[in-house]
Amino acid sequence: MVKISIAGASGYTGLELIRLLAAHPSAELMVLTSETFQGRNVAEVFPSLRGIVDLKLRPLDDDVAKDCDVLFLALPHTAAMSKLPDYFRRDCKIIDLSADYRLKDPAAYAEWYAVTHTHPELLAQAVYGLPELHRDAIRSARFIANPGCYPTSVILALAPLFKTDWADLNSIIADSKSGVSGAGRKPSLATHYGEVNEGVRPYHLASHRHTPEMEQELSALAGEPVRVTFSPHLIPMTRGMLSTVYINLNEAITAEKLVAHYRNFYKDESFIRVLNPGEFADSHHVLSSNFCDIGLTVDSRSQRLIITSALDNLIKGAAGQAIQNMNIMLGINEKTGLMSPAIFP
Ligand SMILES: NC(=O)c1ccc[n+]([C@@H]2O[C@H](COP(=O)([O-])OP(=O)(O)OC[C@H]3O[C@@H](n4cnc5c(N)ncnc54)[C@H](OP(=O)(O)O)[C@@H]3O)[C@@H](O)[C@H]2O)c1
Repeated sequence: MVKISIAGASGYTGLELIRLLAAHPSAELMVLTSETFQGRNVAEVFPSLRGIVDLKLRPLDDDVAKDCDVLFLALPHTAAMSKLPDYFRRDCKIIDLSADYRLKDPAAYAEWYAVTHTHPELLAQAVYGLPELHRDAIRSARFIANPGCYPTSVILALAPLFKTDWADLNSIIADSKSGVSGAGRKPSLATHYGEVNEGVRPYHLASHRHTPEMEQELSALAGEPVRVTFSPHLIPMTRGMLSTVYINLNEAITAEKLVAHYRNFYKDESFIRVLNPGEFADSHHVLSSNFCDIGLTVDSRSQRLIITSALDNLIKGAAGQAIQNMNIMLGINEKTGLMSPAIFP
């Protein structure tokens, strides 16, 4: 059995890791951490785990990486950044769900996160954990920087196009909507029920921290700098994410041809479902699952491609993708523990 520690087990992505790993045939949960709830049984904090997981939450210390095979860090950015060298001394694989090691350029981290990176020397060791693009590197990795939810939805929506010259790569606009769980469990005024319910609002227009992550990966695919106009929106639902991505086409191309190309690009991918021409991605159909649905629509009047990409921010956008990475790193079937369909309705 693979021994698992989860730092940040009392948060939303931590809970999803527990839920999925409790049903994973090769995983054994050993250590769960929380500062607020230390000393309490995790099933008291999350009654959904009653009768399934019986472990006391303990505070985060260096021992979290002791005697485990895989350490998941489900903490806010910076909370574990400086502790990585200590964890590295232990003989475990590390999957960090935060943004701390996603950006390869420490100057970009400082610019977008307003913090100086404490361990830029470790950035080169972190593999960006998007299996559809980096599976070979993940296979031999010891340390994964698990992608953000918005970047996962936008990069997967665009990656196949970067193998063609069909589109103007500098005309990308990504308009994304996220449920409130994207902001984590810690209460805040911005995510308070009365501030979110019955309304829709953009936030961090032209300045969201996931922008450089998208640009880093898309630029690597393009072999030249790519810019993305990214407009995130908070909508009154608990979980789920839909990105609608616009890009100008260089020539008239049918949706049928695009769908065939996308299906070929993703032909070996278990969690990417390219929809039929004319179908649009819908967050309902991926909720609580590790799938990302992608729909392709051509607006022939404006010669623009409109891509819809739906995923669950807590699963393919976080915990599910992290477990997919774990499976790949350990050489077990990538789909293990992740093939549940969406909960619908
Ligand atoms: N939510 C999403 O959709 C999503 C998607 C992709 C990536 N992520 C990333 O995943 C990470 C976790 O997100 P989340 O949504 O699960 O957050 P969350 O619900 O706020 O949970 C955060 C967890 O970290 C613990 N924690 C907070 N500050 C800590 C500190 N200084 N030292 C030790 N533990 C600390 C909390 O424990 P206590 O409060 O019990 O002390 C809690 O268990 C973040 O970096 C986030 O950006 C989130």
